[in-house]
Amino acid sequence: MFSHWVISHWSFGGFRFFKMDSNENKDSVDHPEDGLGLVFLVGFMGCGKTTLGRKLASRLGYEFMDLDHILEAQVGMSIAEYFSSFGEDAFRKLESDVLKQTKYPPHAVISTGGGLPCFFDNMRWMNAHGKTVYIKLSPKILADRLENEKGKRPVLNGAKGKDLVDFIEGKLSERDKFYNQATIIADGLSLTAERVEQLLNK
Ligand code: S3P
Repeated sequence: MFSHWVISHWSFGGFRFFKMDSNENKDSVDHPEDGLGLVFLVGFMGCGKTTLGRKLASRLGYEFMDLDHILEAQVGMSIAEYFSSFGEDAFRKLESDVLKQTKYPPHAVISTGGGLPCFFDNMRWMNAHGKTVYIKLSPKILADRLENEKGKRPVLNGAKGKDLVDFIEGKLSERDKFYNQATIIADGLSLTAERVEQLLNK
């Protein structure tokens, strides 16, 4: 994508200029001229979005935001409680609204729920408003990480061992096509905030 400068309007000081993207669409926003703007971390549950996101934000000196936590604070209940009271369809609509209606600072690192990129036009929206980083891990590694913390994640439905690996394989095969639309696809194994910063600055 290249940009060009456009004379926007006449003002007392003379011409005012603003930068316009050549593939402008109605969703695009003015990205800050310096810095990375909004960095959305996407990927399956357990891939490390929150841990890595915090480290990346502190490294860059940006605010860290976790959309799952913002949603929980807005509804005053945990995601597990919301799922069991209102069901998954209501949750998906709400998480999309939270994504699009949250007020973001000019620069931030934002951790997103594992299913969020795969519903509505959320992935397109994130790519139009910032950069996206897919933290990619194999089903086996994700299962090892999730084995002991399933209670918090209603989508997993209490699966264990081989069932859990099979479940993750199935879900990833549905979700990969969304995750793969990310600006950057990073191997999540031993991934550091420093490496993500390098990839973002490439
Ligand atoms: C979900 C992932 C969770 C949370 C919800 C649904 C999913 O977020 O949004 O339980 O469908 O993958 P994390 O990826 O942060 O666990």
